[in-house]
Formats: sequence, C-alpha cells, structure tokens
Amino acid sequence: MSKVHVLNHPLIQHKLSIMRDKNTGTKEFRELLDEISMLMVYEVTRDLPTEEVEVETPLAKMKTRSLSGISIGIVPILRAGLGMVNGISSLIPNAKIGHIGLYRDPETLEPVEYYCKLPLDAEQRLLLLLDPMLATGGSASAAIGFLKNRGCHNIKLVNLIAAPEGVARIEKEHPDVNIYVAAMDEYLDEHAYILPGLGDAGDRLFGTK
Ligand code: PRP
Ligand code: URA
Repeated sequence: MSKVHVLNHPLIQHKLSIMRDKNTGTKEFRELLDEISMLMVYEVTRDLPTEEVEVETPLAKMKTRSLSGISIGIVPILRAGLGMVNGISSLIPNAKIGHIGLYRDPETLEPVEYYCKLPLDAEQRLLLLLDPMLATGGSASAAIGFLKNRGCHNIKLVNLIAAPEGVARIEKEHPDVNIYVAAMDEYLDEHAYILPGLGDAGDRLFGTK
C-alpha cells in the first residue's frame, strides 16, 4: 500500500494558507509554491542512501557521510507541476528534469497525454513526479503508468494538496508509489475540484483562465 506523508510543518501550513487565499496574486502564488516545494524536499529525500567519506577539516581528518550517488529525476506534470520544479531542483541541482504533458478533459475528466520527454536513463533514477493538485488522481495515475511503461519503477509522487479520492486511486492502482503532500483536503466537487483547495493551480500559477 502507498504510504501517504502529510508534510504539515508550520512554515508549510502558513505559506499554503496564503496560497489558498483567493486574493493572493500570481507573483506571490508562484513564489510560495517555489518555497513550499523546497521545504518539502527535506522529507521527500529523507530515505536517500548515504555512504561514509573522509574529509579533512582545517583541524583534523574525519569520517562523515555524503549521498551515495543515487541519481534523481524530477518530472513535472505539465502545466502546473512546472511550478514545483525550481524549489526542488535548487536543492537537488544534479537532478535531470523530464516533462509529462497531460491535461484533464473537462467533459470526461479523463487525462489526455500530449507530451513526454524523460532523461535517457530514467529507469535507473529515483523519479519525483510533481503536480500541485491530486484531485481524482487520474492525471497522476496515468503519468505513473506512463513512467512504468518506460521501465521506471522507483517513483515518488509529490503534491501540494490531495483529495482523499486521489489518494485512494493511487493506493489502488500504484500501491508501490509513496505520496508526499502538504495538505489532505476534504472532498471533490461535481467538477472534480478539490475543496476547499485553492482553485485551478495552473491558472493561478500562470495567470490564465
Ligand atoms: C490539474 C492539476 C492536475 C490535475 C489534477 O491540471 O494540475 O494535473 O488537474 O486532476 P486529477 O487528479 O483529477 O487528474 P489540469 O488538467 O487543469 O491541466 P493544467 O496543469 O494544464 O492546468
Ligand atoms: N486541478 C486543479 O488545478 N485544482 C483542483 O482543485 C483540481 C484539479
């Protein structure tokens, strides 16, 4: 079963409250998503392997630990996932960045794929799949399926806000994928928007309608 990590650190809660406010404009919304994504990296990468290394400080030699060479890929789901890339890549600067283009058909609510470009060695990497909103879970589940079809099996899903319906879908369809969220919200409305949510993440991030 997927493990759901709710990263409700006070700083994250505070910044997310401002993002949710309908009066928060695009510039601030974008900056806050950047900052929260950066804060989330701390927990998302908690189980990365380390190895012993020797370092010489100005005073003595010591044995310490550093990351043991695991390669990471950052894969935003277009469009809104793009808003999480800067924060995460600033802390994992060696990560390669792939892109998956999906949009949710407003009639059927089913995800439609329109783009995919992944690192050549994606199947050897830990992939952090990014999307601020996990609503029905259709987009994230399709994106995970897409990655698995290309041989990628080490995947973590990173969302800002999730609905219980979306989490349940990932748990059912991809029980091997752990989910990291800043907040678990209450339910979906009849248009599959997360309530209370923050509205349309892509529109608020990019200033479109
Ligand atoms: C939003 C969001 C997710 C998806 C979530 O994208 O960024 O990708 O909806 O909904 P789901 O869990 O029900 O699939 P949208 O389809 O609005 O596209 P956009 O990022 O281009 O705005
Ligand atoms: N996509 C969004 O951007 N917001 C929602 O609440 C649900 C899907």
